[in-house]
Amino acid sequence: MLVLGIETSCDETGVALYRLRPRAGAPGEQRYGLLAQALYSQVQMHAEYGGVVPELASRDHIRRVLPLTRQVLESSGCALADLHGIAFTEGPGLAGALLVGASVASALAYALGVPAIGIHHLEGHLLSPLLAEDAPAFPFIALLVSGGHTQLMRVEGVGRYQLLGETVDDAAGEAFDKTAQILGLGYPGGPAVSRLAESGRHGQLKLPRPMLNSADLNFSFSGLKTAVLTAARRHGLGDPQIRADLALAFQDAIVEVLTVKALAALEATGLDRLVVAGGVGANRQLRQRLSDTAAAKGYRVYYPDPVLCTDNGAMIAFAGALRLAHLHPTTRAFSVRPRWELDELAPV
Ligand code: KG4
Ligand code: ZN
Repeated sequence: MLVLGIETSCDETGVALYRLRPRAGAPGEQRYGLLAQALYSQVQMHAEYGGVVPELASRDHIRRVLPLTRQVLESSGCALADLHGIAFTEGPGLAGALLVGASVASALAYALGVPAIGIHHLEGHLLSPLLAEDAPAFPFIALLVSGGHTQLMRVEGVGRYQLLGETVDDAAGEAFDKTAQILGLGYPGGPAVSRLAESGRHGQLKLPRPMLNSADLNFSFSGLKTAVLTAARRHGLGDPQIRADLALAFQDAIVEVLTVKALAALEATGLDRLVVAGGVGANRQLRQRLSDTAAAKGYRVYYPDPVLCTDNGAMIAFAGALRLAHLHPTTRAFSVRPRWELDELAPV
């Protein structure tokens, strides 16, 4: 089963081809798994504005999506006629950006007479660790940390997700981006804050750990952002060492909260596998701290390849292939859902 995946929910145009291995009787000659992927990041275009400009994002997706599609078909040696389905990100995300991927995928699917499969963006993220060779088995806990979401989910299987806790205000990635703005680092903030933190000194500045000791699995990061702003005003940002210390203090705080809550979710559910997904999952200090803390308790942590942590077409092609394997007949009409809760998905 060969599926083309198209991701256009925000500021990356991602296209990929995934071939799902049949349960039995696989013909010997075919290649399986991720056959090709191509990604175009609009980050430079938006950097000038300090964040994503939705209308510019939509227009750029229109320019990129067909050339990227040609590129993955050519590099994999596949033809449009070989496709069994076309997956696209149906939501959540920017409405105009989503519409580009949805309409291109649906038009191609209609022309080829194959199903178009609308995929939940976060399902893409949270299944992406399964693309690794050493993939986790179900059930597991997923820590989803992206620019728009911070959630702990219990994952029993494809489409079987139970929300255990989430942020009550800002997402973790949003906190990184806002901190970067305060530190004058530009957009996107996560990688820049993380790089600056490398020259910071531990313990020089102390920031709060919001909701660290709340009895639930929820998060709150808007107070942390305010604390960064207050510290920046108090100490000034002229000295590069102070800026680095503040970046590190912020990263220490957020990493500690994410680690403690993720471990608490494992403890509360009795599960022993943790999957980390979403852009913030690319953060090296978070990975180090989670792996060390988890190992000490006998838990195992799984990460997608760092290039699959941020938005990409591969996760959408993969989720599409898994869903297509179980798909009921669909209509030709398509929709996008800029707001969409993960636990509204139909289980497979
Ligand atoms: O999953 P993603 O690519 O897009 C969304 O669906 O939101 O996540 C983007 C977020 C941004 O907020 C970005 O600053 C953050 O992930 N991010 C990082 C790192 N790389 C990306 N945050 C911390 N450390 C990183 N290395
Ligand atoms: Zn994402």
